[in-house]
Amino acid sequence: MPTKTEKELYQGKPTTGHEWDGIRELDTPLPKWWVYVLYASIAWAVVYFILYPSVPWFTGYFKGVLGWNSRAEVAEKIDEAKRGQSRYLDRIKTQSADEIRREPDLLNFALAGGKAAFADNCAPCHGAGGAGTKGFPSLADDLWIWGGKLADIEQTLRFGIRSGHEKARSSQMPAYGTDGALKPDQIGDVAEYVLSLTGRSADKAAAERGAKIFAEEDKCISCHGKDGVGKADLGAPPLNTRIFLYGGSKAEIVRQVTKPQHGVMPAWAGRLDDETIKMLTLYVHALGGGK
Ligand code: HEC
Ligand code: HEC
Repeated sequence: MPTKTEKELYQGKPTTGHEWDGIRELDTPLPKWWVYVLYASIAWAVVYFILYPSVPWFTGYFKGVLGWNSRAEVAEKIDEAKRGQSRYLDRIKTQSADEIRREPDLLNFALAGGKAAFADNCAPCHGAGGAGTKGFPSLADDLWIWGGKLADIEQTLRFGIRSGHEKARSSQMPAYGTDGALKPDQIGDVAEYVLSLTGRSADKAAAERGAKIFAEEDKCISCHGKDGVGKADLGAPPLNTRIFLYGGSKAEIVRQVTKPQHGVMPAWAGRLDDETIKMLTLYVHALGGGK
């Protein structure tokens, strides 16, 4: 070993021999622990390179001796989620909407599934969240044309309303004006009566004449009920609230009585599977006004 010159020793310690303006650089070795950690990291990296996919190789890339693959892992996770879902779906298949409603975890799953299916299939007509617009009833209030019990809603969904399905809800309001069953002034009177049912000021004498027509046995009362409370089994909406499917102004009521709209709701049996129909039933029921 060559002896260090005075220049290479500083206060008895070796220096690198570099000096700047009288400041010398000590040649202190790296701490042992630091060096060992470095060697361990290098060894670990080599092991890792061998076990896991690492470097480009002749045929694509080196796949590692463990054969691990992030895509396989994702596929496995998806499978696992599907197995979890099918556990729920199997239970939904075999249970009625009423039974599902009594099991909180199953109900939560059904509501989430129903929400997604609603956005895809129903929102175009009934609006986001079932808010409804003219001609398409709100499903988020507690006023039901065809009934708001789970069984009523499920029946409506499965077979539709005037959908052409043989089990569809199909009652229709007669066209009093175009059939000539009522004259225009009689229709005006009966519209005044409907307005009075909603609590809006109306021509009193006309409303009284209208009330008589309304209550004739084969007329309005047979479907809309006494005082216009509505009849769910005939799909005749209540006329004594401010909520109207086709608008509540006198002109709109006259138009409906003269030549009614026959709203059509498609049948979903055969288009959506059984589980989805049940999930939708529970979702619609929970939107606000389920009975
Ligand atoms: C093509 C438009 C259309 C689509 C799509 C549609 N509906 Fe309807 N729906 C209607 C109309 C119109 C009515 C009202 C019919 C009537 O009674 O005059 C209705 C009525 C209903 C009723 C009865 C409301 C009551 O007050 O009794 C329910 C429940 C309902 N729809 C749920 C759904 C669900 C759930 C979906 C999705 C699977 C859906 N609808 C898709 C048009 C539609
Ligand atoms: C055979 C049963 C039936 C009879 C009779 C009937 N309606 Fe209707 N009415 C209905 C049905 C069903 C609807 C819903 C129409 C639809 O959804 O397309 C309706 C809707 C209406 C509406 C619209 C309600 C809304 O929410 O916009 C008015 C107003 C109305 N009827 C008034 C009358 C009057 C007045 C009479 C008597 C002159 C009458 N109806 C007789 C079945 C009937």
